[in-house]
Amino acid sequence: MEEELIAIIPAAGKGTRLKPLTDFIPKELLILGDKPILGHILETLKPVPSIKRACLVVGHKKSTIIDYVKDGSQFDLEVDYVYQSERKGLGHAIYITRNKVPDNKPLFVYLGDTIIYPPQEIIEMIRTYYELKKPFALIMVEEVEDPERYGVVKVEKMNGHLKITDMYEKPTDPSLKKEYMNENGKWLAIAGAYIIRNRIYDYLENTPPGKGGEIQLTDALKNAVKEGERVFAYVLKGTRLDIGTVQSYIEAQKWWINNLLKVMENK
Ligand code: UTP
Repeated sequence: MEEELIAIIPAAGKGTRLKPLTDFIPKELLILGDKPILGHILETLKPVPSIKRACLVVGHKKSTIIDYVKDGSQFDLEVDYVYQSERKGLGHAIYITRNKVPDNKPLFVYLGDTIIYPPQEIIEMIRTYYELKKPFALIMVEEVEDPERYGVVKVEKMNGHLKITDMYEKPTDPSLKKEYMNENGKWLAIAGAYIIRNRIYDYLENTPPGKGGEIQLTDALKNAVKEGERVFAYVLKGTRLDIGTVQSYIEAQKWWINNLLKVMENK
């Protein structure tokens, strides 16, 4: 049976790559079509039966985020907040939610600048997690041709699933290609959604700051793989919008006009 997962949504970043927009508005509240990015994220959780609670990590311009989401009831969610006073990385943002998550509940980590569409992808990912008998982690990945901007995973096939054997943050070394590319000649990039067991907090506690002096979630997961934890990849079939740069924000706006606006007009 599918038990409850707690959604963890890190939204405390400064969004420096989207300056000067993010001087006034946190990245997560930039408007995409008819609502803020965070609104789209929370809407995609609405139809997911096993997610009823979410914990938002806030920092930069936190009051605007809290003003918008409030207690979460408009999204059929019970929302709680954790304040990240210093921006010490995604791994740290997740680590500070440890007192908000009951010991036996897995986390559904959903980055605050990423929209996964349609919501059925999330439902399917959770289904896969239970089919795999609750591994340590199931990481959503997407096939890409340009890995330099992403964390990428190395996989081996196992009973129709993809087991992760290693990970690499933003690879620039072309010699990694042979090991990491799949049969379609593509890299598998981490796509902004993860199901992770509670033990991740222990790994994060022992993860020293990595790239950019930040505690990286990828480093903690990589360690878990090294320790023999079962970690799998779920390949996204739908769309991932990652609103990290002005260019990707504009791409997301184009996608909204060509896809979601049409869905709304046909209703
Ligand atoms: P990013 O690293 O893409 O966000 O983190 P950022 O820091 O806002 O980006 P730049 O580099 O300054 O432009 C991905 C997600 O993790 C959150 C961010 O808010 C974003 O939603 N995050 C990141 C935190 O909550 N805390 C952190 O310390 C780092």
